[in-house]
Order: sequence, then structure tokens, then C-alpha cells
Amino acid sequence: LATVDVDVSSVEPGMSITAKWRGKPIFIRNRTPAELEEANKVPLAELKDPIARNANLPADAQASDLDRSAGEGKENWIVMVGSCTHLGCVPLGQSGDFGGWFCPCHGSHYDTAGRIRKGPAPQNLAVPTFEFISDTTIRIG
Ligand code: FES
Repeated sequence: LATVDVDVSSVEPGMSITAKWRGKPIFIRNRTPAELEEANKVPLAELKDPIARNANLPADAQASDLDRSAGEGKENWIVMVGSCTHLGCVPLGQSGDFGGWFCPCHGSHYDTAGRIRKGPAPQNLAVPTFEFISDTTIRIG
């Protein structure tokens, strides 16, 4: 399927679901205020990969928390391809040194905005093309 619609009405803050799109896992997380705060206080200069890697934005958009998220008013939502940018393993949620995702294959740590912070992965987890088509439905692709 070119696009997949995902009902996120039951995904409370602090919860995640994994959808499937084009054979890949897609992580959808409703982040808590604490997770947002954590991501927002990181200076961009500290990021290993300063690019947003968000298919919904220009290719040179910076990896601010807002530009990694679903955007203004939906900052709590983050949607990412669940494939480590090192060699493609599936990272584990709410793990690692930065409280985001951890890839157990070779030890890459991603923060609560899915940005690579430590380990061999070269890039932030990719944000696929998606949009909210209603308050509770995300269309991926
Ligand atoms: Fe994730 Fe190597 S595949 S760290």
C-alpha cells in the first residue's frame, strides 16, 4: 500500500505503537511533556546529526525538536521509520542513555526526538511522509 492510515486515538501520552508501512516498522509515539522538555533543551550544536531528516520538510531543515515532531500544536507526536541508520536493526523504545530509543545491534542511542546521540549510527531516525487527516488518524506515505 502506498499509504497507511493509523488510528492513534488510544495512544495516551507516554505510549507508542508500531505500524507497518512499505514493509518497515513505523514508530508512533505520543510523547510526555517531560520527554519534550528533555529534547528541547538540547543545543543543536551538540547533535551528531543536525539535520531534521524529516520527509515533510525541506532537506536542510534543522533537527530541532519541533522539526522532528508532527509540528506546531502536535509536538507531542513523533513518527519515525523504526530502522537504525547504522545497519538497519529495529531500535528498542524508551531505552538507552537518552531515554529515547536504543539499538542493541551495535549500541546506538537515540534521544526522545529520535536523534542519534551516541554510537555508530550516522543519522537521526528518518521521519517518513505523514499527516494527521483527523485529530486521531495519521496517514503515513
Ligand atoms: Fe543499530 Fe548497528 S544497526 S547500531
